[in-house]
Amino acid sequence: MTDELKTLSVPVRLGGGRGYGVEIGAGALAGLGRAARESLPGQARKAAVVSNARVFGLYGERAVASLRGAGFEVSHWLMGEGERFKTLRTAERALEFLSESGLERSDAVVALGGGVVGDVAGFAAALYLRGVAFVQAPTTLLAQIDSSVGGKTGVNTRAGKNLVGAFHQPSAVVVDTATLQSLPRRELTAGWCEAVKQGAVGDRRLFERTKRFLTGEARNVSNRRAGASVTETGAGRDEELAQIIAAQCAFKARIVAGDERESLGRDDARSRKILNFGHTVGHALEAVTNYRRFRHGEAVGYGCLAAAEISKRLGLLDPSELESLREAVALAGRLPAAADLDAETIQRALRKDKKAVGGSVRWVLLEGLGRARVVDGREVAARVVRAAIRAALAAPPRTPK
Ligand code: NAD
Ligand code: GLY
Repeated sequence: MTDELKTLSVPVRLGGGRGYGVEIGAGALAGLGRAARESLPGQARKAAVVSNARVFGLYGERAVASLRGAGFEVSHWLMGEGERFKTLRTAERALEFLSESGLERSDAVVALGGGVVGDVAGFAAALYLRGVAFVQAPTTLLAQIDSSVGGKTGVNTRAGKNLVGAFHQPSAVVVDTATLQSLPRRELTAGWCEAVKQGAVGDRRLFERTKRFLTGEARNVSNRRAGASVTETGAGRDEELAQIIAAQCAFKARIVAGDERESLGRDDARSRKILNFGHTVGHALEAVTNYRRFRHGEAVGYGCLAAAEISKRLGLLDPSELESLREAVALAGRLPAAADLDAETIQRALRKDKKAVGGSVRWVLLEGLGRARVVDGREVAARVVRAAIRAALAAPPRTPK
């Protein structure tokens, strides 16, 4: 087994001595079996891999070989691809697969794929035999920096996204950054929007660092377009990518450690709620376009801008900070146009937000880059929200010259 890899390790420390590690690096999938073995009880014999055909076709062999190399008896099951398969029906089929595999309480589910696979596989693991262990092997940027860490699992229902779920923490997370090489551009953009969100809402240094990395990426793309023979590629760039993903995971781990279950009673700047920055308008944008126009992260990109526009209008956020956020979202990648969408329709869709408490939306706003403030929706006038949405959607942000 070629397990002589240089990986970065980020600990997720939870209450009661619980916790797990996130291992990050190019080629880290080779260490999946070892990471699973080290994090599971000694009696673990079986690993049941949940993936989809595309991801399994690309990385299944590597993942299975690593798990077998660590002594697991491995079975696999492929769910349908995309958000529309994130359903109770799919979770039920996943549960049937776990039964057919003869998985016992000491065994584990392994999620190999993006956030959809991770959420469904984690949910099935939470339910099967009232909870078996699961290991996350995320293969999209969004899943690597966000959804694989923190234990939120679940499925969508006809009434909305993620309405049924469970908190079920993984035993280990193995992030192979090399899998991002096959990821379509839009999926990368979606992931980078979430990365910008995490920095903006809770960690100014992370925000600036992410922006610097993305500036380097943009420079590389334009150099390549101009036919330059020398671009920053190769090992140095891989290392930087792993480091930025590790920094993002460390941020998420800190927030999760402090508020694992997103307590209803917490509204402070370190509560897990702040991770919903950009999601209020983001979810509404997805809903009014029937989940067809935007990748989730792209909608969140616009959502962050709308929340920042509200913050500016309430006098909380300096206009120069809003501009810096616009630049960062632009650097994440090109967003689909949204100027044709009607602000009032989006506003109506906001009222269905599942994060509403006591009937009112909780806005996650900014007091500055890296400083969040949770505000009761009743404190924000409807006309302010409408104007902010219009301003955010007016034109996709442009990369700074
Ligand atoms: P996704 O899982 O749908 O993956 C996007 C696409 O990329 C899919 O078509 C997938 O097959 C493909 N893909 C995955 N890895 C690939 C690779 N390496 N190469 C080529 N193609 C690849 O989307 P996503 O953005 O990863 O996840 C979105 C989901 O995550 C949503 O359902 C969202 O609700 C959920 N989410 C959950 C949490 C959480 O805390 N649990 C947080 C954020 C988002
Ligand atoms: N992605 C939001 C959370 O994990 O809480």
